[in-house]
Amino acid sequence: MNLILLGAPGSGKGTQAKKLQAKYKVLHISTGDMFRKTVEEKSALAEKLKNIMEKGKLVPDELVIDIVSKRLKADDCRQGFMLDGFPRTLAQGRALSGILNGNGIDFVLYIELSENEVVKRLSGRRLCSACKTGYHVVFQPPGKENICDKCGGSLFQRDDDKEDIIKHRLKVYNEETAPLIDYYLESGILRKVSGNGNIDKVFEQLCSVINDKH
Ligand code: AP5
Ligand code: MG
Ligand code: ZN
Repeated sequence: MNLILLGAPGSGKGTQAKKLQAKYKVLHISTGDMFRKTVEEKSALAEKLKNIMEKGKLVPDELVIDIVSKRLKADDCRQGFMLDGFPRTLAQGRALSGILNGNGIDFVLYIELSENEVVKRLSGRRLCSACKTGYHVVFQPPGKENICDKCGGSLFQRDDDKEDIIKHRLKVYNEETAPLIDYYLESGILRKVSGNGNIDKVFEQLCSVINDKH
């Protein structure tokens, strides 16, 4: 089973991907996570990515497509994969179709959430500096303030989760990424799920879409 998770920044793609990976054993591939890891490793590319990402802009299509096409050739993708944060432009969507020879995606799971809700989710998001587990100060707080439940690491806020950058990311999403909704609607594989409600409620809806087919 190959899936795409589509949705605005903060709609819950990463949160749901972790749960789907655990339940369906489908590999979670997040381009954002890959780029953040590269930034931590320090290199010429790291500097370039950091500059783009902290402003809430998109990494150039060519670079993203190259990285994803290499990633999808790895052996661990043969059991199925779930793309989170890719494709993010029509050019990336078309390139993916080329990489997979036109078929190969079972569903595009589109998580719909209002901009007001997105801002609340992103401004309260925190991540573990060690294991990268995600939290939210109100909706998904850790047991001890600012400490990861899983590994005891300290929590931090992403540079692009500051309010003015969130606004810019939303603008970029509306202009560059939202056209993919119609693109996948036309190919008949889009499934829309409401991102409102708690994490388990959204997860249940995603599972029922997947279970309908399998
Ligand atoms: P990326 O990392 O992909 O960021 P994003 O798309 O902006 O999405 P987020 O990770 O911010 O949100 P999410 O949907 O995963 O939400 P989450 O589950 O964390 O990309 C970052 C940057 O990398 C881009 O800006 C760009 O520069 C670059 N990039 C990446 N891919 C690229 C590409 N393909 N092309 C070009 N550039 C690319 O949830 C958010 C918060 O809400 C959390 O705190 C969580 O605890 C909470 N939460 C989740 N679900 C619920 C719920 N149901 N109820 C209450 N709270 C909830
Ligand atoms: Mg994410
Ligand atoms: Zn941790």
